[in-house]
Amino acid sequence: MAEYKLLLEHAGDTAFATLAGYRKFGGFDALKKALGMDRQAIIDELKASGLRGRGGAGFPAWIKWNGLPKEKHGPQYVLCNADEGEPGTFKDKQLMEQTPFLVLEGMAIAGYATNSDAGYIYIRGEFVDAARAIRSALDEMYAANLLGKNILGSGIDFDIFLHMGAGSYECGEESALMSSLMGERGMPRLKFPHAPLPTVAGLWERPTLINNVETYACAPFIVNRGGAWFATLGASTKNSRGTKIFSVSGHVAKPGNYEIEFGTPLMELLDMAGGMKGGALKACVPGGCSVPMIDAETCEKAIIGYEEMAEVKSMVGSGGCIFLNEHTDIVTFIWRTSLFYANESCGKCTPCREGTRWLVQILDRIRQGGGRPGDIELLQQVCSQIDGRSFCGLGDAAAWPVAGAIRVFRDEFEYFIEQGHSKVPGDSMLPTAS
Ligand SMILES: Cc1cc2nc3c(=O)[nH]c(=O)nc-3n(C[C@H](O)[C@H](O)[C@H](O)COP(=O)(O)O)c2cc1C
Ligand code: SF4
Repeated sequence: MAEYKLLLEHAGDTAFATLAGYRKFGGFDALKKALGMDRQAIIDELKASGLRGRGGAGFPAWIKWNGLPKEKHGPQYVLCNADEGEPGTFKDKQLMEQTPFLVLEGMAIAGYATNSDAGYIYIRGEFVDAARAIRSALDEMYAANLLGKNILGSGIDFDIFLHMGAGSYECGEESALMSSLMGERGMPRLKFPHAPLPTVAGLWERPTLINNVETYACAPFIVNRGGAWFATLGASTKNSRGTKIFSVSGHVAKPGNYEIEFGTPLMELLDMAGGMKGGALKACVPGGCSVPMIDAETCEKAIIGYEEMAEVKSMVGSGGCIFLNEHTDIVTFIWRTSLFYANESCGKCTPCREGTRWLVQILDRIRQGGGRPGDIELLQQVCSQIDGRSFCGLGDAAAWPVAGAIRVFRDEFEYFIEQGHSKVPGDSMLPTAS
C-alpha cells in the first residue's frame, strides 16, 4: 500500500492556504452542501463514515456530534483541540499551516450540525506559524461571509475564535483545555461518570463538542463524498475507517508526516519514510510517546488500525510514530520519556505528581550505573499505582511506556542493573547528565 493523500493531497501547495486556491479544489462546497442538509442527516453521514477521533483515544466522532442537545436552551460550542503536545506528533501543525481552510470548514460544518453558536480553536503556544495561517484563513472566511452572521444567506450565524495556549502538554487534555480557555489554571476537571460530559456541560457549563484538528479536517470529505465512501477506506480493518496521518520520526531517512489508509502494515509506513538510518530496526513507538513500544519482530506483523495495534499490545494513539535503531539504549530512551511526563504533570493528584518523579529517579539511577536488585519490580509497581489511579490520562500516559518497555526489553533493564552500563555498545543516545 502506498501513501493515501486525502487530507494532505494539496498540503505544500501554498495557494491551498488561500481562500481562492482552496476554492479551486472544491473548498467550501461541503459547507454549502451541509447548510442545505438536515442537521441529523450530517450526523448520520458521520456515523456511516465510521470516523473515530484522531486526538488519541479513537472515540466515534458521531456519538459526540449527536450528543449535543437538539433543543437549544442557550449557547452551544464547538471546540478544536490544536494543542498537539504529544512528543513525536506534529501532524496537526502541518494541517493548520498548510490546509487551514480544511480544518475551519470542518469546524463550521460541525457548528451547523450541532446547532452551535461559536467555535474555538485552541492552538499550542509555540505554533506561531500555524496560528498565523489560521488567523489569515479566518479573516478571509469572514470577508467572504463563510463565518459570522447569515452565512452564505442561509440564516445561520457562526463565529470561530482563535485562542493560543501557553505550551503545556496537560492543556491538551480536554477538561484542562477548557479550563485554560476560560482563563483558569490548565488543570483537569472532574469527568464522566463523576461529572457530566462536555456535550452536556463543557465551556462555560454549556454543551460543547470537542474534537482534534485532524478529526474536523475529515468532515468536508465525508459531507462531499458521503459517509459510505469514507468507510471504504480502511475496510480491511476491524473498525478503523478513513486515513490517518502519521508523524514519522526517530532513526528514519525521511522523517515527516505520511498519510496512510487504515489497514496499511506498519513496515510500509517505515518504507515511506525512507527506511531505517544508522542501523537495523530495534523498536517502534507507534502512536506518540505515551503508547507502549513494540520490538522489530512485532513491527513486522503490525497492521495500522485501532484494534489491530491493540492486538500487538500498543496503540494508534495520536500517530506519532518513532522508529528506533539497534544502537538505541532503551533504558535511556524511557528515562527521557519519563522525564517529559514528570515535568508536564500538573501536580493535582498524588499518584501522578509523586509517581512520575519516582519513575524518573529509579530510571536515572539505573542509567547512571547505580541500579539496585528489585528496581524493575519497583518500576512495575509504581506504574501500576499510577495507571488507572490518576485524575486524568497524563498519569496513564506516563506509566504505559515504562511498563511496555520492561515487558518487551526486560533483558536490557536487567543487564544495566547488573553490569552498571548499557547493553548497547557505543550507545549514541546517552546524555551526560539528568
Ligand atoms: C494529557 C493529555 C494530553 C492530550 N493532548 C491532546 C492534544 O494535544 N490534542 C488532542 O487532540 N487531544 C489530546 N488529548 C485527548 C483529548 O483529551 C481529547 O480526547 C481529544 O481532543 C478529543 O478529540 P477526538 O475525539 O477528535 O480525538 C490529550 C489527552 C490527555 C490525557
Ligand atoms: S494525572 Fe497528572 S496531570 Fe492529570 S491531574 Fe493528576 S497530576 Fe495532574
